[in-house]
Amino acid sequence: MPKDQVTALLDRIAAAHNLQELDSVRVALLGKQGEITSKLKSLGAMDADTRTAEAPKIHALREAVTNAIADRKSALEAADLKRKLATETIDLSLPAPESISGTVHPVSQVMDELAEIFADLGFSVAEGPEIEDQWHNFTALNMGESHPARAMMDTFYLEPRAPDEEPRVLRTHTSPVQIRAMKEHGAPVRIIAPGRVYRSDSDATHTPMFHQVEGLVIDKHITLGHLKWTLETFLKAFFERDDVVLRMRPSYFPFTEPSAEVDVGWSIENGRRAIGGAEGWMEVLGSGMVHPVVIENYGLDPDEWQGFAFGCGIDRLAMLKYGMDDLRAFFDGDIRWLKHYGFKALDVPTLSGGVGA
Ligand code: PHE
Repeated sequence: MPKDQVTALLDRIAAAHNLQELDSVRVALLGKQGEITSKLKSLGAMDADTRTAEAPKIHALREAVTNAIADRKSALEAADLKRKLATETIDLSLPAPESISGTVHPVSQVMDELAEIFADLGFSVAEGPEIEDQWHNFTALNMGESHPARAMMDTFYLEPRAPDEEPRVLRTHTSPVQIRAMKEHGAPVRIIAPGRVYRSDSDATHTPMFHQVEGLVIDKHITLGHLKWTLETFLKAFFERDDVVLRMRPSYFPFTEPSAEVDVGWSIENGRRAIGGAEGWMEVLGSGMVHPVVIENYGLDPDEWQGFAFGCGIDRLAMLKYGMDDLRAFFDGDIRWLKHYGFKALDVPTLSGGVGA
């Protein structure tokens, strides 16, 4: 085939403006009825000498065309991507239009409310990692290797990073922050530790990730009476009602002794269940006096220091206060749900203005 004819073919490929045009050229050249395909077919009808001379040229032509098409294809695809990237950029510095502006998630709102309430009682906010080692999550909290509570917590274990590393866990509760805060600050201490916790559990009232707030007071001469007063004061401020009634039921946690689960009373108001009164009871938190073994693990002498701790589900608190009924909706990221239940960014909770927005 003369050189200029080859160039003409390659020019046709280079002239394809988009992937569809390129594909038509490919079919016209290499398809069943294509120009190069028919040249290949014509080899059969040639006499041996001509065929020996022509075959390498035709095959070389087919290869050149195939390569040119592949090259053009990647060039067109790259250009396509570049155009997409250029046209689909979002200027994050622009203000969002009112119709899509975000709101403060109820969990964040409740965390702010808790920080406000407890700051007024002299508590500061502490934090710990969500990926935790087993010593902080279990052992230091008086749950030894073979303690049945380890199995009860539906723990997510991580792949060890080295063959001899003990697998780390996604913390199953905020209680490990007790140990970290005590090691860091020493006694006396008054802290709350809000944050994410993880358990392998999922239905309308359980999600694999949820939120807890831990409370911890360590000092001299702390009694169960201080615990009860603190919880009562907290729940009255949180639900913004004076008629909040608490019921403490004896319970068991490895890290507290004695332990109590705390219910709040509800009653029916205008056909709806509302916190206050005592027509029925709803469990809201676990609590107790910190176990002497745990105090020792803080690095303190349990004959000198004692205190109380509690752990409370934040999502549960939000549902009770703001009337949501499906926990899973908290984590769907549905803008309509947020518009309905979310809070305006400037509605900062204050005790004087009412902690609820
Ligand atoms: N960590 C416990 C839980 O997740 C709650 C708790 C905290 C109970 C502190 C007692 C004291 O169930």
